[in-house]
Amino acid sequence: MGFEKNILCIGAGFVGGPTAAMIAYKCPQYGVTVVDISKERIKQWNSETLPVYEPGLDEIVKATRGRNLFFKTDIAKGIRDNEIIYVCVNTPTKTFGAGAGLAADLQFWENTARDIREHARSSKIVIEKSTFPVKTALAMERILNSRASKIQFDVLSNPEFLAEGTAVRDMEYPDRVLIGSRDTEGGYRARDILVEIYANWVPRQKILTSNIWSSELSKLAANLFLAQRISTINAMSAICERTEADVSEVAKIVGMDGRIGARFLNASIGFGGSCFKKDILNLVYLCQHEGLPEVADYLQGVVRINEYQKERFVMNMLEAMFNTLAGKKVCLFGFAFKADTSDTRESPAIHVVRRLLEERAEVVVTDPRALDNAKIDLKGLAGRVSYVKDPCKAVKGCQAIAVVTEWDLYRGLDYKKIYGQMIKPAFIFDGRNILDHKRCFEIGFNVYPVGKPGLTHFK
Ligand code: UDX
Repeated sequence: MGFEKNILCIGAGFVGGPTAAMIAYKCPQYGVTVVDISKERIKQWNSETLPVYEPGLDEIVKATRGRNLFFKTDIAKGIRDNEIIYVCVNTPTKTFGAGAGLAADLQFWENTARDIREHARSSKIVIEKSTFPVKTALAMERILNSRASKIQFDVLSNPEFLAEGTAVRDMEYPDRVLIGSRDTEGGYRARDILVEIYANWVPRQKILTSNIWSSELSKLAANLFLAQRISTINAMSAICERTEADVSEVAKIVGMDGRIGARFLNASIGFGGSCFKKDILNLVYLCQHEGLPEVADYLQGVVRINEYQKERFVMNMLEAMFNTLAGKKVCLFGFAFKADTSDTRESPAIHVVRRLLEERAEVVVTDPRALDNAKIDLKGLAGRVSYVKDPCKAVKGCQAIAVVTEWDLYRGLDYKKIYGQMIKPAFIFDGRNILDHKRCFEIGFNVYPVGKPGLTHFK
């Protein structure tokens, strides 16, 4: 014992676990404890199979667990024993009451704030790590300071910009670390303590400080900008398909403008993941609430185009396959919302399967990591869905392949052999534009990329 600083992470999910592990890894002089209300989750973090799959995460957890990284269930003790507290609980979109479908559900966060207030015996720095709506810090301060006592709580906003699948790298070499604080003496003091923690491995010029509201808003704004790029290129893909332009060429040309930049311009079946849609809808709700309907409408368009893109993918399949999918077997290549993760939250695959079943198709799902989650997501859907890990076996008796996730492994498969196992005419709908379309066409497939002319054998 006797660590230089004692840091607590409340919430052992996609953000809390990796964040704590990275701090413990980079700062052996600090003790880092992660707590969660779910005993099961903590048990998993203490086991050989972590609840989160992230390249490189196993190694840093193995190197630190039991040394200066601890996973525990006693939240009250965690709060008492640590002076720096990260709040990493989830904030899903509300499904009930005012703001349902738009606003964030803050009950986990508020319970956490109350827990901190109840159990704290000394002053604490409380850090918002999860993505919260703008002004959450204010509510947090009000709850924390609603008990008459001398204990001081300083709330900081320190949003996480990591992307799944690259979480460890993103945390080790971040583009920037953002710390928002109140413009008060206490706020600055707390801010400086957090700056020192990150300065253990992040170059000082990449550690930005700002006012706390800018910090909260910037996280939402960053996700809006990223998602907006995808919706814009996806809108272009629809135009490309009508005009025989090629969206990859358009993206390359547009992206070479230094003001625009080349990243996040891949047309696709649509974006998924736990952040983009949720954060944009959060902003939409804020705008509606603040009397900014024009802005709300503009931002909502980003989500609307994404829904449209997913549906367009299914309608393209239907049209290409002679306007009926009933009784036809379709193989989904990938179910995760992107490659290198088992996460399926908001994955376009969910919409595609639901719609294919409505069209009475039979669906075979294959994915190297996400089949367990797929089974949970698709539970209770009427129709026939089967799950086969090996894509080369999954295609047997299918008439179409729909590429939903850009797993590298799909690029290198033996498509000649695959073609041989499928019912003809055989179709590929490449929702990620990752396959060699010309070669697949030459093998005999009818190929439909996103935002490019189809390659078909029909006269
Ligand atoms: C995102 C942000 O990148 C991250 O900074 C934030 O903290 C959380 O949200 P994540 O959801 O993990 O991270 O995934 P990301 O890599 O951003 O991809 C989001 C979705 O967009 C995926 O479905 C991906 O396949 C899709 N995408 C991405 C495209 O369709 N085209 C692109 O060019 C890039």
